[in-house]
Amino acid sequence: MKKAIYPGSFDPMTYGHLDVIKRASRMFDELIVSVLDNKAKSPLFSTDERVKILCEATSELKNVRVDQFSGLLVDYCKRQDVHIIIRGLRAITDFEYELQNAQTNRKLSDDDVDTIFLTTSLDYSYLSSSSVKEIAAFNGDLSQFVPEFEIPLIEEKFKKIRNTGNPEG
Ligand code: PNS
Repeated sequence: MKKAIYPGSFDPMTYGHLDVIKRASRMFDELIVSVLDNKAKSPLFSTDERVKILCEATSELKNVRVDQFSGLLVDYCKRQDVHIIIRGLRAITDFEYELQNAQTNRKLSDDDVDTIFLTTSLDYSYLSSSSVKEIAAFNGDLSQFVPEFEIPLIEEKFKKIRNTGNPEG
């Protein structure tokens, strides 16, 4: 069975992520989309919330499983018995960081884990989670960037940030 892991922060998930998920899911028998549970960062959505959003967005894709991980990605790959990481490349500016991570992961795994890059659809090549957060912070229209169901969830987070300074409220 051909399996791959698409790891990321997904904070928040965008149409760019969904595009990579849909395309990668056609190439593998199982695609595990996994959210990094990073205690060092202060995210907009908790790890569990991001998992829930990804589950809802991918519910039609029967060979996609959503999970979370902490620690080194290569250790998680080993636990899942997966040897391929998927990452999206939007532009040349992504390349240096992604190449460094891919080479590091290959070294760390003793050549056991390779990274496959999918070039993001041109429709979303400009799109990032950071720009979605910036637009939401100024009450901008998110409808071209994230699925409909996610918009009130993001807006609710920014309402809490405005009221209490904290996305948890
Ligand atoms: O969506 P992101 O924030 O670009 O995803 C980055 C991610 C989660 C793929 C990367 O930070 C990661 O794999 N972190 C886990 C720690 C790790 O294994 N680091 C080694 C690579 S240098």
